[in-house]
Amino acid sequence: MNVRKFVQRFWDFAGAVSVRTKILGIVLGFIVLLGAGVTIQSRYALTATMTAQLEEQSVSITRDLAARATDPILLNDLLRLHDLLEETLANNPNVRYAFLLDSRGQVLASTFEGGFPLDLLTFNSAAPDDHHHTALIQTDEGLIWDTAVPILDGKIGTARIGLSDASMQAALSTLTAQLLLTIVLVSATGVLVAVLLTWILTRPILALVAATKAVAKGDFTPRVKRWANDEIGDLATAFNAMAEELAHTEELRRERESLRRQLMEKVISTQEEEHRRIARELHDSTSQNLTSLIVGLRVMETYCQQCAAQSKVSDLRQVASQTLDEVHDISMRLRPRVLDDLGLAAALERLASEWQARYKIPVDVVIQLSERLPGEMETAIYRIVQETLTNIARHAQARSASILVEKHGETIRAIVEDDGLGFNVNANHGERHLGLLGMRERAELLGGTLTIESAPERGTSIFIEIPLHPSSF
Ligand SMILES: Nc1ncnc2c1ncn2[C@@H]1O[C@H](COP(=O)(O)OP(=O)(O)O)[C@@H](O)[C@H]1O
Ligand SMILES: [Mg+2]
Repeated sequence: MNVRKFVQRFWDFAGAVSVRTKILGIVLGFIVLLGAGVTIQSRYALTATMTAQLEEQSVSITRDLAARATDPILLNDLLRLHDLLEETLANNPNVRYAFLLDSRGQVLASTFEGGFPLDLLTFNSAAPDDHHHTALIQTDEGLIWDTAVPILDGKIGTARIGLSDASMQAALSTLTAQLLLTIVLVSATGVLVAVLLTWILTRPILALVAATKAVAKGDFTPRVKRWANDEIGDLATAFNAMAEELAHTEELRRERESLRRQLMEKVISTQEEEHRRIARELHDSTSQNLTSLIVGLRVMETYCQQCAAQSKVSDLRQVASQTLDEVHDISMRLRPRVLDDLGLAAALERLASEWQARYKIPVDVVIQLSERLPGEMETAIYRIVQETLTNIARHAQARSASILVEKHGETIRAIVEDDGLGFNVNANHGERHLGLLGMRERAELLGGTLTIESAPERGTSIFIEIPLHPSSF
């Protein structure tokens, strides 16, 4: 579990760095690991060999000294002994000291000039039957191999020398320094090679990343170059094919969308035209005829005061005037003349006051437009507000409603609000409920937007924004 956590942590960190850093890390880590291994191994091997050599050297120098000191000791020639020790010191740079003891352990001669350190005697000694005896002494200057060799089986004394390991340490330091230098040089070369390699490797990948980001933003034009005939090359080719296909699909989608838009515009304008025609017809012809009928009936009513049919005529006149009202109403709803004649503001005021009278819901109308708007925009806003008011009457159970239409910079903004039940905007209202869809469609055909804010029990607000000068969309 802990190992897994550790691996996870490591990957959280290592996985997040760029490919370049990963490759550099691998190369550097490998070189450093290899270098450290080689350094430790070489130092170990060299130390072992040199230690053996030093010990051997120490023994052979001491034996040589013992052999050459025999005669001067027997002759008690102290001067000669001194020369011998000086010679030994001069010929072997690693020898730190040398001295000779007599058979009772008294110092006969030594290379110590400022007085002999007596405790040195206790560190090492050789038994008479020993060939030699070596001890390791730790001093401030490093290790000393101290070798004692008995002279004539110890009968006349002992020869002792101390050999320092300084030369060995120096050799080890040189080796280590050389190895470290090599590691640094190899690392530098490795880094250079790795940088070059990652550049070669990641260049096409970075190009792919950039191109993919562009595609994600909807720009299907970028193509990437096929750098090499490897997997990354295949990826580039596949990417290009995909971008091509996406561009094609996007073009088809655009064509269809523009076609749909044209069709929609046509449908709406045709419908509006048809409404206008029927409304005019109803007003100009049907209403006129009905009015003539009513006038005729009224004349009949006055002229035949005694006739039995008088009450019948009166009834007929009432039916006719009711029909006239209804025709007015239908005509008004189909296409209010006031919209064409006096403009959006007047039409909306009229719409609101009739709606208020019919449904007994107070509605507050604020319209701030200094001039008339383009015809299609007036129609669209009028229709949207009309549908919204119908929805409020049908669904909202509102206590009041408000309509605001204003010019805000270069856009026309309309807000219709109610304080009714509200509804879930995101719910799918099915194919039969086309009111909201139609409203949105009308706004978008003019390059505008329609936003609905509503939540159950919180009332509903419909925001419409339509630019006065739509950019080409
Ligand atoms: N002002 C409103 N208050 C409450 N609910 C509304 C309001 N406007 C719309 N709705 C809800 O949204 C649905 C979809 O409206 P719409 O598309 O106009 O279809 P329809 O009016 O034919 O039902 C309605 O059925 C109603 O549930
Ligand atoms: Mg509706």
